[in-house]
Amino acid sequence: MPNQNTSAPRQICEQRRRFLKWLAASPLAVVPMTSFSAPYLVEGQSAADVASRLFDQMITSPDQALSLFDFERVASMNLPPAHFGYLASATDDGNMRTVNRAAFDKFDLRMTRLHGQGRPDLSVELFGEQFDAPFFICPVSSLRAFHPEGELAMARAARATNIPMSISTFSSTGIEQVNQAYRQPVWFQLYLQSQFEASTELVQRAEQSGSKVLLFTVDSPARSTSSVGALYERLDTRDCTACHNDFIGQRWHKPMVAPLSSNGMPEQTGPFLDWSIIDRLRNITDMKIVVKGIETQADAEAARSVGVDAVYVSNHGGRVMHSGRAALNCLPEVVAGAGQLPVLIDSGFRRGSDVFKALALGATAVGFGRPFIWGMAAFGQEGAEKAVDMVMRELRTSMIHAGAGKVQDIHAGMLS
Ligand SMILES: Cc1cc2nc3c(=O)[nH]c(=O)nc-3n(C[C@H](O)[C@H](O)[C@H](O)COP(=O)(O)O)c2cc1C
Repeated sequence: MPNQNTSAPRQICEQRRRFLKWLAASPLAVVPMTSFSAPYLVEGQSAADVASRLFDQMITSPDQALSLFDFERVASMNLPPAHFGYLASATDDGNMRTVNRAAFDKFDLRMTRLHGQGRPDLSVELFGEQFDAPFFICPVSSLRAFHPEGELAMARAARATNIPMSISTFSSTGIEQVNQAYRQPVWFQLYLQSQFEASTELVQRAEQSGSKVLLFTVDSPARSTSSVGALYERLDTRDCTACHNDFIGQRWHKPMVAPLSSNGMPEQTGPFLDWSIIDRLRNITDMKIVVKGIETQADAEAARSVGVDAVYVSNHGGRVMHSGRAALNCLPEVVAGAGQLPVLIDSGFRRGSDVFKALALGATAVGFGRPFIWGMAAFGQEGAEKAVDMVMRELRTSMIHAGAGKVQDIHAGMLS
């Protein structure tokens, strides 16, 4: 006869363990957990978020990620609050991020079966170069604020996955070094400087480094408040004057703008600019000019009429102006206005199926800003690479279900 007195606690223990296991697996477990306040605002909830709340752990390596949002959570823990806030920041209450995301839910994929298309080919040609997927790394300023290797880690990840890489005017690494890491010239993004001579220096430096594509950003003639970023800044109690010294400005650690001369007359920019600026740029460079931040058919037509090489739909990831339209919702009219020109798009893309939807609505390629930076901030180059790889896999899955054998096969009839 077993001694019932000694086995009883073991049984209770076992029952408790089973109960906890059941609870952890049950959706009920999530209910009380949602009342936990996460230390950081995260955009997406994922299985790993739920697991981390239950078991007090986050993913510890890129291969554990189940969605891009798993990287966001690790990034939110790795980064100083002000840096994470800068990345997360969007206008006012962050509403434009929600608006961008909500647009994707309005479209569904029409699944088709037994189509015999085989493994989808994601490759595309963009501006005369061959790439392994129809999406690219957006220009984002100061990548070293998110990882010590910044643009270099991102460029290596882009090379390893063979997708286009771009850098910002306010990049924290010079274009020549980034080109070396990418083993090919990257695309360069231009913010017009108040002296046109300085813009000329920037563009010519990019061109001399071998860059063939100029992303000319026109979507920020004025900015509304970013309370999300400001709130995170208040959480950051570090002494940040070494990098953010208002007296000398922040230019010294921005190698593209730091050496610019102050030759020439300052000119009014922002709301004073008109389409004649494209002619002036055309006169100083042979690079392909892509105008970034277009939202309407009329502007796409204007861009086409002044001879740009491509238009780029973007609301800057919802960072510039509230009460705007989701980038995806602007896409069809921009495609109509762009005629035969390639149309790029970004703002709010988080999954391969999002990319699929944009391609079906006429986009040529899709940009990712924050998500690949979450990957990099979480696990460096490896994290960024894994994030790119996840989107590739998700896009391939969407294409299989929609019956598209290659990117060019994707069309509006595959959505409803
Ligand atoms: C932290 C941050 C800095 C950015 N800096 C620039 C920039 O210097 N130039 C630019 O054209 N766009 C910039 N963008 C906008 C991105 O190029 C892109 O339009 C946007 O991030 C896409 O939205 P997503 O982050 O939702 O993918 C920035 C975006 C973020 C998040």
